[in-house]
Order: sequence, then structure tokens, then C-alpha cells
Amino acid sequence: MPQRSVDSLRKRAPRPDRAWQEPAEGSGSLLGSIAEMLANSNYPIPKKTKSAFLEACRGEPHDHTPVWFMRQAGRSLPEYRAVRGDGTILDAVADPERAAVITLQPVHRYGVDAAILFSDIMVPVHALDFGVDIQPGVGPVVDRPFDRVSDLERLRPFEPDLDAPYVAETVRQVVDSSPVPVIGFAGGPFTIASYLVEGMPSRALERTQALMAEDPGLFEDLMSRLADITVSSLRSQVKAGASAVQLFDTWAGALDPDTYQRQVFPHSHRILNEIADTGVPRIHFVRDTRSILRLLAATGPDVVGVGWQTPLDEARRLLGPDLVLQGNLDPAICLEPLEVVNAAVADVLARNNHHPGHVFNLGHGVLPETDPGVLAHVVELVHAHRLSTDQAS
Ligand code: CP3
Repeated sequence: MPQRSVDSLRKRAPRPDRAWQEPAEGSGSLLGSIAEMLANSNYPIPKKTKSAFLEACRGEPHDHTPVWFMRQAGRSLPEYRAVRGDGTILDAVADPERAAVITLQPVHRYGVDAAILFSDIMVPVHALDFGVDIQPGVGPVVDRPFDRVSDLERLRPFEPDLDAPYVAETVRQVVDSSPVPVIGFAGGPFTIASYLVEGMPSRALERTQALMAEDPGLFEDLMSRLADITVSSLRSQVKAGASAVQLFDTWAGALDPDTYQRQVFPHSHRILNEIADTGVPRIHFVRDTRSILRLLAATGPDVVGVGWQTPLDEARRLLGPDLVLQGNLDPAICLEPLEVVNAAVADVLARNNHHPGHVFNLGHGVLPETDPGVLAHVVELVHAHRLSTDQAS
């Protein structure tokens, strides 16, 4: 297929005034204030009272499909690289002003319907001094991985206001100036457990699988402590003003359904149950949902993230019409020519078939090499697609 020019493929011409969004990299004092960023925003600041994102999460009628991207803040944005600083990401997260600016960058660049707090799933265990760091280009690494009963003592109860007060402070600062709802989040207990047990990112999760098989009692205690930490963390973010929360259990899809049901499900179910009284929509995300989609829905979230490996219409058939779905464009599609992007976005929307319970997203996080122009284009495509509520099925 001949590749036409980017502009000819865009539904609408790109806004001409995007120059402010391309700060020269490494140019020093670029930590612009939130006020400055708002003044420069390419998007009108809508009233906070109505939100297509929150309406979709509740399955209520609304006029356009809301969209946000997992990892929308991050290395794909030059303005992120400009203010991120030299330390680890955990240093940036612990600086509320910087973290608030970073949280809002994708909102102003893309016009997405929600902001996700700039933080990391490893923040609570890091704040408890478990000895976790996040190495750029690698991911979470742990000094002394979890492998015995005495390691449980290294996971005392998490007190967000004392252990990591900067998280709630960032939420408050963002909520004060965000034109859209703010999503709080935490790691699912299996995914956190897998990092603590493996000691470094691992696809096969061999040590974790071995612990689950050889000492299920110890694994249960580990999961239980992590579930308590997650509940405290999410409750504190909602108290600070988060309008929705997402539980990221990225690697849980690596388990077979029986193992998931016995050793993970009860903990995720408890977490979602224990935050139900906050009243905010609860989104449950796993990276590859093929083997556990129904179990994931049964943990009791308001919104289920669907991996890109499962077509949305198939997910809807499996889960019934009442659950709200989030997803599910393959993030790698965003590296393709715009014709391919256009077709893939149209396919996700067509498979949703005008159902009001859909939040558009990628099936996993934005890849760092993604061109931000492509994500802006995806937002325009999704927003241009009108929902006709009478066609919902
Ligand atoms: O924009 C957002 O989505 C909000 C911020 C966010 C980050 N991490 C910032 C971050 C969120 C929601 C996360 C969640 C997270 N962190 C998950 C679950 C989602 C997923 O991607 O599966 C996981 C597994 C982690 C653990 C983690 N943190 C990994 C694997 C990495 C990548 C390491 C690397 O450098 O490639 C991180 C680092 C991290 N967290 C970055 C960002 C923006 C990388 C950029 C940096 O170091 O500045």
C-alpha cells in the first residue's frame, strides 16, 4: 500500500500552534508551572461537571467515546523528557509539583478524557523500604528479593499519609487544575508479588510460579499483605480527589485460570470489594486477558480492561452487555503508518457497536518510541466517532 502523506490521512488538519509543545530536550529549567501549562493548552478547558469518561465507566449515556492511554505520560513525550530530571522515576514521583505537571502534560497535548496520576505501581513497597528501585530501560529491581517467611516483616501496613505523603499531595495539585477526572491507581498484588519475588523483570516468572507451587501458604500471606497495602493506597488517592481508580495486575494473565482462581482471584476480589464504598469507578486491568477474562470480570470491577489479543465484540459476548469495557488497540499499531492506525481504530470502534459502556484505550501502555502526533490523531478519530445510544447492544 503506498504511504500517503500524514496530513492527507488525518481527518482534520493538525493544529498549527503546537510549537510550544516541543521544548528542546535537555534545555534545563523546563519545569513550567501548571498555570503556565494551562495558559498554553491547545484544548479549551471544559467544565468539570460533565465527563464522558465517568459516564462511560458508569454505563450512562454520553455523546462521544472517551479515550485515555495507559502510560500517556512518559518517554514518548518530549515535554516529559524535558522535566523528568536525572534521578530515577521514583525521585520524580516524590516531587509533587513535578509529578503534577507531568500528569497534566498528556491531557493538554492530546485532549484525552482522563488524567492518570504520575506515579508507579512500585511506590508503596518502595516507600516501605523493601529495597526496590526502578532502573531506566529495565524496570523494577529489588536488592533482596522475597523468599522466606521473615521477609513478610519487610511489608508492614502502609500508611499513605506518613509513608508516601507526596502521592496524595500530587493528586490534590492535579485535581485542582485538571480539566478532566483524575485516575488513581495501584499495582495488583500478583504483579507486585512477582517483582518482589523475581527481583527483576522476568517474562517467565519462574521463581514466582515456584513459590506458588511449593509454599502456597507463604504466597497467600504475601498476597494478603500486598492486598492490604493496595487498599490503603487506593483509598488515600480517592480521599485526595481521584475520581476513578485502576488496578494494574499486568502479569496476572501469565497464569492458567485454575491457578489464578485459587491464588490471585480472592485477593483482587477483596481489594475491589474493600474500595467499593468509595463510590468511584474501579477499573481492573491485566495485560493479556485471553485465559482469565471471565474471572477478571468476576473480581467485581466496574470496568474491565480487555487485552488487544481479544476482539472487543468477543469480550462483550463472553461478559454480557452490562459490564463496561476498556481497550483495546494494540500499542504496536501506533508505530505503523496512519492508514493502518486509522483502520485499527475504526475496527475497535466498530466492534464496540455503539455500546455506551466503552472507554477507548490501548491494550497496554504507550511504547516509548510512539510518535505523539499519532496518539493525538487517535484521540481525534475516537472523538469524531459519534455514539448513538439507541443502537447500543
Ligand atoms: O502515564 C501513566 O500511565 C502514569 C504513570 C505510570 C507509570 N508506571 C510511570 C512510569 C503508571 C500507571 C505505571 C504503572 C506501572 N509501572 C506498571 C503497570 C502498567 C504496565 O505498564 O504494565 C508496571 C508493570 C510498572 C513497573 C515499571 N515502571 C516498569 C516495567 C517500568 C519501565 C522501565 C523502563 O524504563 O522501561 C517502569 C518505569 C516507569 N514508570 C516509567 C514511567 C513513565 C518509565 C520512564 C522513566 O523512567 O522516566
